[in-house]
Amino acid sequence: MHLPRTAAAATTALIIIILTAADIQISTASPNQQLPNFTAVIIFGDSTVDTGNNNYLPDAVFRADHPPYGENFPTGQPTGRFSDGKLLPDFFASILGIKQLVPPFLHPNLSDSDIRTGVSFASAGTGYDDLTATIAQAISMDEQVELFEKYVVRLRSIMGDDAAKETVQGALVAVSAGANDFVYNYYDLMTRRLEFDLSGYQDFLLSKVQTLVKRIYNMGGRTIVVGGLPPIGCLPIQMTVELQNPLERRCVETQNLGSQSYNAKLKKLLAKLQSSLAGSRVAYSNVYDPLLEMITHPTKYGFVETKQGCCGSGLVEMAALCNAESPSCGKEMASNYVFWDSVHPTSTAYQILATNLSQQLASALSSASPPSS
Ligand SMILES: *[C@@H]1O[C@H](CO)[C@@H](O)[C@H](O)[C@H]1NC(C)=O
Ligand SMILES: *[C@@H]1O[C@H](CO)[C@@H](O)[C@H](O)[C@H]1NC(C)=O
Ligand SMILES: *[C@@H]1O[C@H](CO)[C@@H](O)[C@H](O)[C@H]1NC(C)=O
Repeated sequence: MHLPRTAAAATTALIIIILTAADIQISTASPNQQLPNFTAVIIFGDSTVDTGNNNYLPDAVFRADHPPYGENFPTGQPTGRFSDGKLLPDFFASILGIKQLVPPFLHPNLSDSDIRTGVSFASAGTGYDDLTATIAQAISMDEQVELFEKYVVRLRSIMGDDAAKETVQGALVAVSAGANDFVYNYYDLMTRRLEFDLSGYQDFLLSKVQTLVKRIYNMGGRTIVVGGLPPIGCLPIQMTVELQNPLERRCVETQNLGSQSYNAKLKKLLAKLQSSLAGSRVAYSNVYDPLLEMITHPTKYGFVETKQGCCGSGLVEMAALCNAESPSCGKEMASNYVFWDSVHPTSTAYQILATNLSQQLASALSSASPPSS
């Protein structure tokens, strides 16, 4: 199989939280907003949801298959996940009662049961803009859809056509991307600024989101959740790139405003797509507010440090956000940090985020009109 490599850049992600805080959030969840029984989880996107596909791309710029990544993973080993432990797809699959870990589709030894309950096609460094995937030598979104096609072929061979169709229709499909597009092509490398103003680039990316959602729908996906942008200006790497005085680091406000205006447009687009795609549920996932909440009120969630990652606040070298030269703050200390590296949340933060996002989803699905069939 030839994997197309595409695009670009760093990563994205966000969020934080502490177990105790997560427990509190769970206990306050509204009991009448329950999630349906999904058959599987199917994931598209960037490093926020790449559970290890880049391990199998020899030229990928961004990899997390080395220490200190994975220090708090159940095995204590790096897996390719860009954090100290589990990522959003893992927490989601677990909240939904499907499984504990979502494997990367490129893993060579996927069992039939792995396939039946869902996989991730995501690739660290990618984005909606093909230029982003090219810069990062990551799997572009078009290529992720091609992998989804291969996945469906295997699913059919395991279950038969009808059951495979039901599995895809009953799956939760989640998409998380976009931050790399802005970080690399707009804010830091500025490649796309020659062609687009901010609003124009947002619209360019949103046209890609629309195409992706329609392709997923045409392949049978019916519940599709698309994540918005995080507060990009609060990623430690963005504060570093702005050459801020280390003692006075603060979120880059204009970049946060850019995320907000993109998110407002995305939310509208997804509502429009839901009404035009019969029987679909297309939900917006607000990662901005819960992440910013953790950054703004860290102690509420047990966090101490919000402005640098547990293993660094810059780009160590092209291939690594953290490596042996940037040892972590210590695996027990990671839960004091919102960010694990200069871009990605700690697993603790992801867990808090996952709880919030699953509640958002339950509420979005309970208010949406049921699929017409
Ligand atoms: C989901 O499955 C469980 C166990 O099979 C069942 O008890 C429950 O009623 C189902 N919920 C929905 C919303 O279908
Ligand atoms: C896949 O299975 C083979 C044979 O059991 C084993 O040698 C290999 O290490 C496995 N690969 C992974 C990534 O687990
Ligand atoms: C998610 O987090 C945001 C920001 O803290 C909060 O306003 C919102 O109520 C939370 N949503 C849910 C469903 O917990």
